[in-house]
Amino acid sequence: MSTVYLTTPIYYVNERPHIGHCYTTVLTDVAARFHRLFGRDVFFLTGTDEHADKVADTAAAHGMTAPRWADRNAEHFRAAFELLGVSNDDFIRTSQDRHKHRVGRYIAALQASGHVYKGAYTGWWDASQEEYLTETTAKEHGFKSPVTGKPLAQRTEDNYFFRLSAFQDRLAGHIAANPEFIMPEARRNEVLGRLRQGLTDVPVSRSAGPAPADGQAWGVLMPDDPAHKVYVWIDALFNYLSVIDTEPRRRYWPPAVHVIAKDILWFHAVIWPCMLMALGEPLPRTVYAHSYFVRDGRKMSKSLGNFVDMGLIGGYCRDFSRDALRWFLATQGPLGSTDADFAHDKFVEVYNAELANGLGNCAARVGNMIEKYCAARLPDPGPHASGLDDLPAYAWPSTTAALVRAAVAHADSFEIDQALRRGVDLVRQVDGYINATEPFKLAKRAAAGTPEHARLSAILYHCAEALRIASLLMSPAIPDACAALWNAWGCAPPAGTPLSALSQWGGPHSLRPGAPLHKGSALFMRADPAAPPPTPMQAPADPGTGPSAS
Ligand code: MSP
Repeated sequence: MSTVYLTTPIYYVNERPHIGHCYTTVLTDVAARFHRLFGRDVFFLTGTDEHADKVADTAAAHGMTAPRWADRNAEHFRAAFELLGVSNDDFIRTSQDRHKHRVGRYIAALQASGHVYKGAYTGWWDASQEEYLTETTAKEHGFKSPVTGKPLAQRTEDNYFFRLSAFQDRLAGHIAANPEFIMPEARRNEVLGRLRQGLTDVPVSRSAGPAPADGQAWGVLMPDDPAHKVYVWIDALFNYLSVIDTEPRRRYWPPAVHVIAKDILWFHAVIWPCMLMALGEPLPRTVYAHSYFVRDGRKMSKSLGNFVDMGLIGGYCRDFSRDALRWFLATQGPLGSTDADFAHDKFVEVYNAELANGLGNCAARVGNMIEKYCAARLPDPGPHASGLDDLPAYAWPSTTAALVRAAVAHADSFEIDQALRRGVDLVRQVDGYINATEPFKLAKRAAAGTPEHARLSAILYHCAEALRIASLLMSPAIPDACAALWNAWGCAPPAGTPLSALSQWGGPHSLRPGAPLHKGSALFMRADPAAPPPTPMQAPADPGTGPSAS
C-alpha cells in the first residue's frame, strides 16, 4: 500500500491559535482524509514549536517558567484542532525527549561528516522572527523586519554553521528536475530567484546563555558544547524526521507534502532539503506554501487586534457547525498564491450555496421523495440502472467516474479546493436532473406497474446513488454531515475500503434497491444573510487555572 506522510508547520506556543494556524491544519487534514479515502497508508503530523526565545520571554513576562507556559499553550493548540475535527496521527512538541534526543543525534552526525563546523557570524538579527537576515535583505527592508517592521540589530556570535553553500548546485538541480518540489509555481520562482544570488552558510546554533535557575536549558544543547544550543529553526525543522525515525514509522519517509505558508518558505524549500541531503535522507516530494488569510481586506496582526481567534472560530462552529467552517476554510482559503479574505458575508454565501442549498437541500429533496413515493425504501431502477435512454446527457456511470477521477487527480496535485468542488458539481448535476425529469409530477400519475412508475423508480435511484458518490467526494471536508447522511441512508462506507471500490456505480457498495432509506434530519440549516456574525464563544480557560485546580 502506498504511504503518504503529510505535515503542517509546528506552531509557536508564545501565542494562542488563530484562523491562520487552523487554516493550514484543516487544509492538511482534508488532504489526509482524501488520501485515506483513496486507500493509502497515511501519517499526518502537526504540533508545536516550543524552544523559541520569544516563548521563554513571553513566559517570563507572565511570571511563568517556559515549560509551564508551553504546556498551557500547546494544550490550546491541541484543543483547537480537536474542536475542528482534525485527524492527526501524532502531535509533536519539540520539548519532548523523543524529539530532543534525536536532534542531538542529527547534529552530531552533521558534525562528524563535516557539514557542521564552528566559526564566527555577524548578521542582522530579526528578534521578532528569530532569524538572521543577510546584509542585502536587511538593506532592502531599511534594516527593519520584513515581516513585523521592527528594527533589526547587528550581532556577532560564535556559532556552529551548516555548510549550506556546498549544496547550491544540487538543490538547484533538484528543483529544476522536480517541478512539483516547490508549489505553487510563484513560490518556486521566488526561491529560484533568491537561489541565483548564491547560498551562504547558515548558523545552526546560538549562545545557550546562563543556565536557568532550574538547571534545565530551554532548547537542545549542542553535542559536547553546553555553551551553545541548537538554533530554534533547525531544532524545529527536525521534527518532521524525529517523529518518523522509529522502526514502525520509517516507512512513511520521505514526506509527500510539507504544508506551510509563504512566510516560512526559505527554511522549508532551501535549508531543510540541504540538511536532509547532508544526512543522506531522501527529500520531501513537495513543499506547498499557501498564501495568507486576511480579514475584511486587512492583514491580521497583533497591533490591529483583528485576528480571527478561537473565540470567533468557536462561534462559527456553534452557529453553523464545524463542518461549515472546515468547508469554508478548505474551499475559500488562500490556497495558491493570492491571499484570501475571511469575511462573514462570503462565509454565509458559500455556506448557503454549497452546503444548505447544495448537498443539504438536494439530499433532503431526494430523501423526501423516496419516503413519500417509495415507502422509505430505495426503489429498484430495473433495466434503467445506468440512466434513462431518452436523457443521454445524464449517463451516470461515466459522469460519476469522470468526476471521481478528476477529484483524485486534483487531490494528488494538492488542489484541495478543486477536489472538493467535483462533489459540488455532482450535486448540481443531480439538481439539474431532478428539474429535467420532474419526478414529483411523475409521481402523480405513477401507479404501481405502469411505465411511469418504472421511470420514477429509476430517477430516484439515480439521484440517491449519485448523491452518495457526491458525499464521498465532499466528506474529507464535511465528515460529520456525511456520516449523518450515510447513517440515514444506510450506506456508511466500511473502514479502509478505497474510493475506487466505493464509488463504482452499481458496484458492491452502491445503494441496494429495497433497503430502507430515511430522510434523516437536515444536514445544514439555511442561514439568514442579514443576521449578524456569530458572537464569540468565551475564550477557553487556561488548563490548570479552573476552580478545581486551586
Ligand atoms: N514555528 C514556526 C514554524 C516551524 S515549522 C518547522 C512558525 N510558527 S507560527 O506559529 O508562526 O506559524 C506559522 C504558520 O501558521 C504559517 O506558515 C501558516 O501555516 C500559518 N499561518 C499563520 N498566519 C497565517 C495567516 N494569516 N493565514 C494563513 N496561514 C497563516 O512559523
